[in-house]
Amino acid sequence: MMKRFMPAILALSFALPASALAAGDQAHPESRNWSWNGIFGTYDRAQLQRGLEIFTGQCINCHGLKFIHFRDLIQIGLSEDQAEALAEQFEVAGDPDEWGDPTTRPAKLFDRFPDPYRNEEEARALNNGAVPPDLSLMAKARPDGSNYIASLLSDAEYNEGNPTDDGLYHNAYFPGGLIAMAPPLYEGLGVNADGSDASIDEMSDDIAAFLTWTAEPRLEDRKGMGLKVILFLLVLTGLLYVSKRKIWANV
Ligand code: HEC
Repeated sequence: MMKRFMPAILALSFALPASALAAGDQAHPESRNWSWNGIFGTYDRAQLQRGLEIFTGQCINCHGLKFIHFRDLIQIGLSEDQAEALAEQFEVAGDPDEWGDPTTRPAKLFDRFPDPYRNEEEARALNNGAVPPDLSLMAKARPDGSNYIASLLSDAEYNEGNPTDDGLYHNAYFPGGLIAMAPPLYEGLGVNADGSDASIDEMSDDIAAFLTWTAEPRLEDRKGMGLKVILFLLVLTGLLYVSKRKIWANV
């Protein structure tokens, strides 16, 4: 019996130290104070909108957001007109013309954010061999995603922007410590709620919050449902207790 498992056990004993090492050269994300933490936490709409501004002002040049439709932005507080105006700034594929040639048209509310590149080859060619991943689900795809994105973007050494000879940038939070993305945030890109210029740290929080919403737009519904279930159970417990007392009162 043991013999049958030997290869698996051997493989495990080699694999474990290697993965422990790989994890060792990546810093743990710093915990930020998110508005949606805790059972009553909700998204801060103004923060999500600031994150959207940063996304459309910068990240969109290289990253897709393919699971988000322009009309979804109404959920974070944009009016229909604002969402429509934003959509119109993007070109998407239209119907073929009378000759069968491809056409483009301005995006509409029902369209998704278009990909910045025509294909993976183009993405790779323009980014030093690395492909910028779609960001819609990034906050869910990485452990501790919201904190990870915020930490990755605000890393101090990274933001000094000194590339290696291979064109990579030191980032303590990225697996392996070297990332192909040049620091994307700079002072003057985003503003705070009071209109003052946002620091790299503040922008990192805002864009990480926005990307948390894109990955989990139903977070508030889910929490609301959890609360309702708990309330229901409390009421049910009370009722059951009262009826038990009643039923057994004269026994
Ligand atoms: C000039 C192109 C470019 C811009 C602009 C850019 N990125 Fe990137 N980004 C990349 C590339 C290339 C990678 C892949 C890096 C790698 O694999 O080494 C990447 C990777 C990432 C990752 C993935 C890290 C991981 O764990 O895989 C995140 C998160 C990210 N970018 C966020 C952003 C955000 C947020 C913005 C806007 C503030 C932004 N990026 C702007 C090119 C860009």
